[in-house]
Amino acid sequence: MNLYVLFVSALFAFNSIDCLNILAVMPHMGKSHQLVFEPLFKKLVENGHSLTLITRYPQKKPVPNWTDINISNVEYNSTEIVTFDSLTGTRLDRYLCSKLLASFAYITCEEGLSHPNYLNFLKTDQHFDLVLIETFNTNCFMGVAKKFKVPIIGIHSGEWMPWLHGMFSRTNNPSYVSDHFLGHSDSMSFLERVENTIFFFINQFVYDMFLARQGKQLSKDITGVDLEEDMMKNISLLLINTHFTLNSKLPLSPNSIEIGGIHVINQPINPLPKDLKKFIEEAKHGVIYMSLGSTIRGDSLPEEKKRAFLNAFSRLKQRVVWKWEGEMTGKTPNVLIYRWTPQRDVLCHPNVKAYIGHSGILGVMEAVDCSKPILLLPLFGDQFTNAINIQRNGGGIMLHWNSTNEDAIYDTLQKLLSPKFEKSAKDLSSRFKDRPLAPMETALYWIHYVSRHKGAPFMKTAAVDMPFYQHYLLDVIGFLLVIFLTSFYVIYKSTKCTLKLLCKRPHQKIKKS
Ligand SMILES: *[C@@H]1O[C@H](CO)[C@@H](O)[C@H](O)[C@H]1NC(C)=O
Ligand SMILES: *[C@@H]1O[C@H](CO)[C@@H](O)[C@H](O)[C@H]1NC(C)=O
Ligand SMILES: *[C@@H]1O[C@H](CO)[C@@H](O)[C@H](O)[C@H]1NC(C)=O
Ligand SMILES: *[C@@H]1O[C@H](CO)[C@@H](O)[C@H](O)[C@H]1NC(C)=O
Ligand SMILES: *[C@@H]1O[C@H](CO)[C@@H](O)[C@H](O)[C@H]1NC(C)=O
Repeated sequence: MNLYVLFVSALFAFNSIDCLNILAVMPHMGKSHQLVFEPLFKKLVENGHSLTLITRYPQKKPVPNWTDINISNVEYNSTEIVTFDSLTGTRLDRYLCSKLLASFAYITCEEGLSHPNYLNFLKTDQHFDLVLIETFNTNCFMGVAKKFKVPIIGIHSGEWMPWLHGMFSRTNNPSYVSDHFLGHSDSMSFLERVENTIFFFINQFVYDMFLARQGKQLSKDITGVDLEEDMMKNISLLLINTHFTLNSKLPLSPNSIEIGGIHVINQPINPLPKDLKKFIEEAKHGVIYMSLGSTIRGDSLPEEKKRAFLNAFSRLKQRVVWKWEGEMTGKTPNVLIYRWTPQRDVLCHPNVKAYIGHSGILGVMEAVDCSKPILLLPLFGDQFTNAINIQRNGGGIMLHWNSTNEDAIYDTLQKLLSPKFEKSAKDLSSRFKDRPLAPMETALYWIHYVSRHKGAPFMKTAAVDMPFYQHYLLDVIGFLLVIFLTSFYVIYKSTKCTLKLLCKRPHQKIKKS
C-alpha cells in the first residue's frame, strides 16, 4: 500500500514537472542559430511540453503545442546577403567583428522589440515555467524573462562569445583560450598572446559599453522595460553548442553545459532529391561537396578564385557538387551546381568523400558527424577559430583565402582524399560522438534539472558576481607588492644603517692612523 502511494505520488511529481510551459526567444536574424535548436524544440513538444517561440523563422506547417510569435520583417532576409568584395581578409576584419555584431544587435532589437506581435505578446497574461533565451550578441530581450520571473536557461549556437565567459564561467585565460574572432590555436606565440590579451579586454569593454548599454536602452525606449542590472547574469545555466573534441578546450563552471552536435547526432538522414542522388551515386571515384554557407552569395566569388577552383576540379577524378546561385560560366563536366542542397544528407552520403566549406559551426559539425574531411576556408566571425580547432583535431586542412589558388586547392584535396586522412576524420567523428549521454538527452536532463531545482542558483560560481579586480586578484597582487616593496625598503635601509654602524669605528681608526 505504502509503496503504491509512493509510486503514484512519484508519477504525479514527475507529471507536474514533465509538462512545462516553455517560452523560447531566438531573435537573431541568422537562421542557422535557430536551426541548431529546432530539434530540441521539437523534442520538447513531443515529450508533452508546450512551447512558445519568439522568432523570425516561424514554422511553415503548424506543430502541435508549438506557438510562434512571428517577429520577422519581410524586407529583411539574411540569406545570401554577404558578398565576397566586402571581405577584406585582413586582421582588421577580425578586430572590428564585435563592433559589427553590435550593429547587428541594434537591428535585431529595434525590429524585434517594436514588432506588433511582440508588443501584443508582452500585453497578454500568460504563465510560463521556464524561459530559453539566445545569448548571442544582445540582452535586449531579457525583458520577457523579467516579466515572467521564472528560471532562465541560455542557449548559444556556437563557440563562446567573448562576453559569455563573464556571465557563466570566467575561465577564459587568454594565455591559451583564443578570442572568438582572432582564430588562434591553444598554443600561442608571445605576440599572439599579447594580441589575444588585448582583445580579451577590448571585447569585454565593447560588450559593456556598446552591446549591453544599447540593449538596455532599446528595451527601455521601445517596450518600457528597465533591465536595471545586466540581466544576463540572472541566467541559470548555459546550453552551448560546442564540444571539447572540436571546439576550444577550457575548464567550465558547473552551469555551462556542452551539447555540441545536438542538431546532428542521432538525427535522421533523409533521402536525396532524385537528380542529386543520381549524380552522386554514378560518380565512380566519389564526390566532393562545396558550399561557402547560406549567408554569403556564392556567385559573388571573384572570377580569379572561381577559375582556381574550376581548374583544380578539372584535374580531379572525383565529381563536385557546388552550392551556387544562378548560372556558372566555364563549368567543367564533373561539376554540378545546385542552389539549395539538403547539406547534411549530402555530407552523410557514403559516396561523398570530402567537404569544402567556410568553417561555419553547423557545416563543420555535420561533416564531422558523417566522418568527412574538410577543406576549411574561414571567411569571417567565428570561422577562423572553428577552422584552426578542426585542423588541430585532425578533421581538416585550413587554407588562407589570400593563398587559395589552383595548386593549393588541388594539393589540399589530394591530402584530404588520402586513406590517412579518411582515418583521421573517422577517429575525430568517433571521439565527437562518444558521450556519457547524447547531446539531446543532456539538454533535456538539464532543462528538467533547472526546473526541478527552481533555477538551480547553487550552480553558479562566485566568479560571476565578483568585480573584475577581485576576480583577477589585482587587489591582492597590489597589496602583496606594497608589502614586498615596503619590507624590501625597510630591510635595505636597516642593513645599510647597521653596516654603517659596524663599519664606523674601524673606518675612523684607519683615518686616525
Ligand atoms: C498538446 O496538443 C494536443 C493536440 O493538439 C492537445 O490535446 C494537448 O492538450 C496539448 N497539450 C498542452 C500541454 O497544451
Ligand atoms: C511572418 O511575418 C512576415 C512579415 O509580416 C510574413 O511575411 C510571414 O509570412 C509570416 N510568416 C508566417 C509563417 O506567418
Ligand atoms: C531569402 O532570399 C533567398 C534568396 O534570395 C530566398 O530563396 C528565400 O526564400 C528568402 N527567404 C525569405 C524568408 O524571404
Ligand atoms: C537578478 O539577480 C539579482 C542578483 O541575484 C537579483 O537581485 C534580482 O532580483 C534578479 N532579477 C530578477 C528579475 O530575477
Ligand atoms: C595570407 O594571410 C596569412 C594570414 O594573414 C599570412 O600568414 C600569409 O602569409 C598570407 N599569404 C599570402 C600568400 O599572402
